[in-house]
Amino acid sequence: MAERIIVNEVGLRDGLQNQPRLVSTEQKLAILEGLLAAGITHVEATSFVSPKAVPQMADAAELFARLPRKDSIDYSVLVPNLKGYERAVAAGATSIAITPACSEGMNRANINMSLEQAIQVAEEVMRKAKADGVNGRCYLATAFVCPFDGPTDPGVVRALAARMLEAGAIEIAIADTIGAANPREVGDLFASLAAAHGAATFSGHFHDTRGLAIANCWAAAERGIRKFDSSIGGLGGCPFAPGAAGNAATEDVVHLFEGAGFDTGIDLDKLASAVGGAEIAVGSGLGGRYLSWRRSQDLRRAAQRKSA
Ligand code: COA
Ligand code: ZN
Repeated sequence: MAERIIVNEVGLRDGLQNQPRLVSTEQKLAILEGLLAAGITHVEATSFVSPKAVPQMADAAELFARLPRKDSIDYSVLVPNLKGYERAVAAGATSIAITPACSEGMNRANINMSLEQAIQVAEEVMRKAKADGVNGRCYLATAFVCPFDGPTDPGVVRALAARMLEAGAIEIAIADTIGAANPREVGDLFASLAAAHGAATFSGHFHDTRGLAIANCWAAAERGIRKFDSSIGGLGGCPFAPGAAGNAATEDVVHLFEGAGFDTGIDLDKLASAVGGAEIAVGSGLGGRYLSWRRSQDLRRAAQRKSA
């Protein structure tokens, strides 16, 4: 049987947080419906952040209450601090992700904390989650390059990962927040993390700013990583990280791993339709490389039919 790759869809959070046009709760649920129909099982649904900082996520509690519930669907939410954690748990979340960055500059820009403060808050949230029986996932943002401080020392990432696991994190998502990582350094970092804590402890979160997100997914997969964040149609960017573009497109990630003989459980035809639905919701064109290719094939076939 083909080995499973878990695709964690983050479009509703990482994808939408940067969209200038406010997407309604109904529209978010419509995007989600398309994703679930395509076979997506892991969804980061929203974030319990300050609505002043990210107006697009102001409906977090309402959206969370209205998510279609199925045992097979794992919903998680992002929280920036203890207040976010408490709001998320009050809304019924059983899986949360905290977001410290590995650099001073990014923590200051994103959550108004120093690096050490951000890590201490993240440790507190992870300890609390463990005590409350909530799954605590931890992002380590700017794990390769920070838009303010430059390259991140992999030794810092390793030390922070160890601290977060010690505090009770059940998973660490290594994030290339501004899409500046190279597959070689991705492979090296995941190899050392997997050697220390096991590959199953980690997931990869790559942005496609410079076109290397898919190559970076593959580099991590070669080191045993089997869970990846991605965003429908490559939607996204971070409002607090200058220059960040969208995540790896979900359809590109599915196309990569299905082609390489893994099983994602996701239907690419239905996923392509879901991208169309998301385009309507955000009012702009989306789609990774796979979808551009697919659409060009459709156009070519239509032209052939016309001339036949
Ligand atoms: N949810 C909602 N409101 C929150 C909150 C949360 N998680 N955390 C703090 N607040 C509120 C406070 O209650 C306070 O409200 P008030 O002005 O009505 O009294 C206000 O926000 C300021 O609180 P403070 O603790 O001083 O926060 P801050 O101004 O330093 O902002 C964050 C810190 C973390 C709340 C804010 O920067 C934020 O939400 N960042 C999210 C960034 C993000 O989503 N990045 C992308 C994902 S990585
Ligand atoms: Zn991201």
